[in-house]
Amino acid sequence: MRKGLLAGNWKMNKTRKEASDFIEDVLELCEKQKASGEIDLDLVLGVPYTLLESCERLAKHSAVKISSQNVHFEDKGAFTGEISPVMLKDLGISYAIIGHSERRQYYNESNLDLSKKVKALQNHSITPIFCVGESLEEREAEKTTEVLEKQVVEGLSGISDLKDLVIAYEPVWAIGTGKTATPEMAEEAHKFIRSVIERLYGKEASDKVRILYGGSMKPENIKELTEKENIDGGLIGGASLEAESFWSLYQKFSRK
Ligand code: PGA
Repeated sequence: MRKGLLAGNWKMNKTRKEASDFIEDVLELCEKQKASGEIDLDLVLGVPYTLLESCERLAKHSAVKISSQNVHFEDKGAFTGEISPVMLKDLGISYAIIGHSERRQYYNESNLDLSKKVKALQNHSITPIFCVGESLEEREAEKTTEVLEKQVVEGLSGISDLKDLVIAYEPVWAIGTGKTATPEMAEEAHKFIRSVIERLYGKEASDKVRILYGGSMKPENIKELTEKENIDGGLIGGASLEAESFWSLYQKFSRK
């Protein structure tokens, strides 16, 4: 049984004050929830670099874990503007989103870069949230599975053990557009990704790997998406920016 995972991706949003207000509100809601039962999902917030330290400090010892939205694959060196896994570890950060389509698109992040990032994160026991997804043109040209397979195979090349790696399937055409993949479309892609993982790493690893859906997920559609057998949670942008909406996602998440 895979534990559900709800991950927010704040992208380039929030000042320190906005972030601390959000975390305080969510921690209060967690406390209320705990009075009536355990927090039964893993909760993660992907925050900008400037907020990693303060958010980690506020969320320490709570159900909320903090994630970066990127990382460099080297431990240190002459890479102006970059942040290394050692620096994340030093702050106590436990997750890192990598390969988001915005990074692939605007910063030319390649599958080869990603395989190096997965390795670097694993070396420092930080859980990668590894994003894949096809563009609209690729879907319309019926290349979805081909694209996903290439991203998974190349992005994980040289990785012998997935450990606790999380995959996020984010069709590029659904991100921030209000267009969500139907639960059936998303399930089909998730099932396909799981089959690729099974081929590469075996049945045990494919049964274990958590695959999140991302792309205009919101309180109104999270239930029907997470009800699907192969959808283990969400990576959520817009609807994760307000504490109330984030908590509503938590409440509506299907405990199938
Ligand atoms: P969205 O973003 O929920 O705003 O579509 C998802 C993502 O980019 O991770």
